[in-house]
Amino acid sequence: MRYGHFDDDRKEYVITTPKTPYPWINYLGSEKFFGLISHQAGGYCFYRDARLRRILRFRYNNVPTDAGGRYFYVREADGDVWCPSFAPVKSELDSFECRHGLGYTRITGKRRGLSVELLAFVPPGVDAEVHQVTLKNESDKPRAVTLFSLLEFCLWNAHEDQTNFQRNLSTGEVEIDGSTIYHKHEYRERRNHFAFYTVNEKVAGFDSDRESFLGLYNGFHEPDVVKAGKSRNSVASGWSPIASHSLEVKLAPGESKTLVFLLGYVENPKEEKWEKPGVINKKRAKELMAAFSTPAQVDAAFEKLRSQWSGLLSSYKLTSSDEKLNRMVNVWNPYQCMVTFNMSRSASYFESGIGRGMGFRDSNQDLLGFVHLVPERARERIIDIASTQFADGSAYHQYQPLTKRGNNDVGSGFNDDPLWLILGTAAYIKETGDFGILDEQVPFDNDENNKASLFEHLKRSFYHVMENLGPHGLPLIGRADWNDCLNLNCFSETPDESYQTTGNRVGRTAESIFIAGMFVHIGPEYAALAERRGLGDEAKKARELVKQMSDTVLQHGWDGEWYLRAYDFFGKKVGSKECEDGQIFIEPQGYCSMAGIGLESGHVKKALDSVKARLDTKYGIVLQQPAYKEYHLELGEISSYPPGYKENAGIFCHNNPWVIIAETLLGRGEQAFEYYKKIAPAYLEEISDVHRTEPYVYSQMIAGKDAVRHGEAKNSWLTGTAAWNFVAVSQHLLGVKPEWDGLSVRPCIGKDIADFTIERRCRGATYKIRVKNLSRGGNVSLKVNGKPIAGNIVPYAPAGSTVDVECEA
Ligand code: BGC
Ligand code: NOJ
Repeated sequence: MRYGHFDDDRKEYVITTPKTPYPWINYLGSEKFFGLISHQAGGYCFYRDARLRRILRFRYNNVPTDAGGRYFYVREADGDVWCPSFAPVKSELDSFECRHGLGYTRITGKRRGLSVELLAFVPPGVDAEVHQVTLKNESDKPRAVTLFSLLEFCLWNAHEDQTNFQRNLSTGEVEIDGSTIYHKHEYRERRNHFAFYTVNEKVAGFDSDRESFLGLYNGFHEPDVVKAGKSRNSVASGWSPIASHSLEVKLAPGESKTLVFLLGYVENPKEEKWEKPGVINKKRAKELMAAFSTPAQVDAAFEKLRSQWSGLLSSYKLTSSDEKLNRMVNVWNPYQCMVTFNMSRSASYFESGIGRGMGFRDSNQDLLGFVHLVPERARERIIDIASTQFADGSAYHQYQPLTKRGNNDVGSGFNDDPLWLILGTAAYIKETGDFGILDEQVPFDNDENNKASLFEHLKRSFYHVMENLGPHGLPLIGRADWNDCLNLNCFSETPDESYQTTGNRVGRTAESIFIAGMFVHIGPEYAALAERRGLGDEAKKARELVKQMSDTVLQHGWDGEWYLRAYDFFGKKVGSKECEDGQIFIEPQGYCSMAGIGLESGHVKKALDSVKARLDTKYGIVLQQPAYKEYHLELGEISSYPPGYKENAGIFCHNNPWVIIAETLLGRGEQAFEYYKKIAPAYLEEISDVHRTEPYVYSQMIAGKDAVRHGEAKNSWLTGTAAWNFVAVSQHLLGVKPEWDGLSVRPCIGKDIADFTIERRCRGATYKIRVKNLSRGGNVSLKVNGKPIAGNIVPYAPAGSTVDVECEA
């Protein structure tokens, strides 16, 4: 069942009922000011850091689930009250539509011939959310309504805001100036920032105290003030500051009126904080308001946003007969990649924005999905990430976006982390040709007195693996590898202990075949970079080590029909036919196969056939089988989940693309595309009632076959799934991948997709690639500007040029 449809021309998902199976959200902003907005106008915003600079309050785990946002109440002369976003009042609407677009959301509700539209977006380069509200009288009678706005401020620190009530209920402060409500909690002391909410018209009244507006015992759905039809002009003092305006709107038949509300964030220099004692210096705020005081200014900013996105998305354009594939590749997958780049794993409807910082491994993998869109920002990101690496090559697992410093609570010891830095950096250099980044002097652990070149950082990443080998010569796993929940040194028997940070056993036995696969896959990138820096001996040595690791995997990491997962603390096999549960895991099958370990000897084929036979389901490939039925002290969190959920045999959409990529390596495009379609959201639109999360973005996990609710997704938006699926589809299924000296063109997608074209911008040149798809399993013949070439690498052309590529695949 569907709850809307794609509007491909406008690059929007159009939701046609407020009653979707879960709040379907969108993100606003892509620089510093960010917002989350649901189809019912729920959500919140923050400046740079979802924990430390939260502007609007949102209650996770609330009843109902999506409460608090940017609300507009319409009160008719006869006392009828409704909201164009349906929530929170929930008066039935004659029609409802929510269009989630690229960086904006437009919600339109209609009741009794009055249509009210809310357009919300963050203008490029601006620290504010615009809420443009257009009321249109589509009836044949004059209408007079009162419009009330409402939002609730968070007391900046989102964690404190939800925990420290003995203080919070006394500290809220506001200032009112005409139509503007200023939120100045803690401005009197150490904060130099404030927020404001304004509207470009004279208001009939306002409220800034929640209790006065709602009534102590009322929810958002029944504010006293709206019922009475008159603002109370309350001025918050402690308790809960809100911002609400009321405006009287009179409309003749056919007439419409547009109001511009602006929610802004301002920082004042310390010495310019006050206009006079106790009064905020509003100069910067007023400049911001002046820039958005007319609908014409809003339109101009909106156009700028639209063209920014169409510019961004033009770097990879697919034209094919499959509209679902086109919309994933051209719009929604890259869009989600940009959002994961901006948010990492901090703020979604499943991530509270107060828990996690930026992940070391997550950020490196996210980079793979957006490096072609904003290479200069990828560069900055690489340096930020590398600056949190330790001198021995290990890394902080997470760092805080505001300070860019490693997070001590979580610390280090996830032994896959260092290798991802090599992968991310290599992808950046292949995309841009900027080898110079390797010479950047980058600190270790943010210590300016201890710096080395980025290349040296990569070298230490590489050798960190070699210096931490276990009894079989395989990499030690540490706290965990990619699978955060395979905690082989943890042994936790105490509730409330973190599986990720508890290490009860200090051992050097637990080994990861997954990290070994990564080493074989990513090590050659390090070798290639060494070679290009004239370090031939180092490159040779690195290649030998990679070869050695590959041999070790075949010797100690092969279980007969598939790759093993790990050796545990006691040296026992994990992910083997010898195990009762957890006999086969997807991660090593995907990664060792992508690395080509045993490609010639048939191991890869065997491993992938085992995946098909044992892990594939109707809704995607599950993480492992059989699911753990009980808790295993020696395995950690993985066995803490009920069967079928999360790492315990859920469909973890992040690692399905590894198998997809590996299938294309074998030339099995059809199988690869079948796996792709099982989890790509646009293909799941028809089963939205089962899948439940947004049909335009990936979710981290879909419940596996052991779960009661097989097929139901959770954790939408912020997941490495976005980047890896973009890599899988753009570089392997469709087959256009930047390499060191040219674009590799090797489509392998099976016969279901007829001929297609791709326009790819890379290093300033444009490649127009026409593919005649004969489904030749990855065997391609190419003509470049009309001339046949050997192999599948189209040499890079000078910036500004256009290259014509004909491909038979
Ligand atoms: C989740 C993992 C996640 C980890 C982060 C675990 O509970 O299952 O998916 O990566 O927490 O700390
Ligand atoms: C989510 C985490 O963000 C990611 O780093 C990890 O690899 C997966 N969970 C699997 O545990």
